[in-house]
Amino acid sequence: MKKEYIRKSMWLRKRNIIDCRYGSDIDSKRNLKGGIKMKNKLFLISILVAVFFAASVVVSAAKPIVIKFSHVVAENTPKGQMANKFKALVDERLAGKVEVQVFPNSQLFGDNKVLEAMLLGDVHLAAPALSKFEKYTTKLMLFDLPFLFASMDAVEKYQKGPAGKSLLDSMKKKGLIGLRFLHNGLKQLSANSPLRVPADADGKKFRIMTSDVLAAQFHALNAIPLKKPFSEVFTLLQTKAIDGQENTWSNIYSKKFFEVQPYITETDHGIVDYLVCTSTEFWMGMPADIRAEVEKALNEAVDFGNGVSAKKAVEDRKKIVDSKRTKILTLTDAERQQWIKVMKPVWKKFEKKIGKENIDAAFASN
Ligand code: LMR
Repeated sequence: MKKEYIRKSMWLRKRNIIDCRYGSDIDSKRNLKGGIKMKNKLFLISILVAVFFAASVVVSAAKPIVIKFSHVVAENTPKGQMANKFKALVDERLAGKVEVQVFPNSQLFGDNKVLEAMLLGDVHLAAPALSKFEKYTTKLMLFDLPFLFASMDAVEKYQKGPAGKSLLDSMKKKGLIGLRFLHNGLKQLSANSPLRVPADADGKKFRIMTSDVLAAQFHALNAIPLKKPFSEVFTLLQTKAIDGQENTWSNIYSKKFFEVQPYITETDHGIVDYLVCTSTEFWMGMPADIRAEVEKALNEAVDFGNGVSAKKAVEDRKKIVDSKRTKILTLTDAERQQWIKVMKPVWKKFEKKIGKENIDAAFASN
């Protein structure tokens, strides 16, 4: 696979160089002769390339299509279980034709690299949190707006509607296809000191995902947001390089953040939701019948993962409570209103980038 990729990228690079030279030859009459020679060379190269690809198709026809699925969370999370379910379904239905390889816990790529790797063909499926797509589209920033969705049911309702569905295609021009949204759950705030009201977060350092909306949310609290990969969060918390972080019950439990954070405030102020995505080149390169089977398995796995997410939100919260390693703070209505008042003005700042109609449609799903 690697060799094939290197050969392919070398070929692409060569083609670019040749294309550039070819363009400048046309501009200059003096180089007309050179242009004709170049045309002949190009013709020869295209034949060689065609032969090379035809040969590689013949060779690869016998081998199964490999789908590398890279993610950053543990296997006992909604995403981890969804990925494993997908592998099991494909193994059962497409044995010998498709092979799924799952790489959990940032083993293959961290969340700051996986989309680039996908565009290069080094990984084929991933499901990054919606906060991690800002380089590719500003539309998905919607899901980071604090206190936009009151529940995961509202998220589901919005994503199933026309406005939500259209977001799946928001990165097509960049070479990425969104296949399905996948849920994790509502976010809580953990810290090394009790956070009851927004003023308690003043001056504290929080790890955030790579999202300008999340940065603005913490700036609104007069706190210091730090964009860091998920794989670094535990150590940053343990060494007290940061004071806190925001995440779902399942991530706080599976990555043991609760063991190094003495307080968790049950804010439900935002969501961690995912987009299962692939590269257009890889997806459309699969034979149509195989693609349809793979998509069917993926849809079933995502439905299964969403079921796991609903259960984990309750079960992992309970496990954290039972561990007695951390204190869970429940907000009064008046305290909660204070968080809403401070964080909600962030919406206005991103209204242009996200589109007011998208924000209104999302809010209406509550
Ligand atoms: C994060 O905090 O980076 C998580 O959202 C990771 C994940 O994929 O759930």
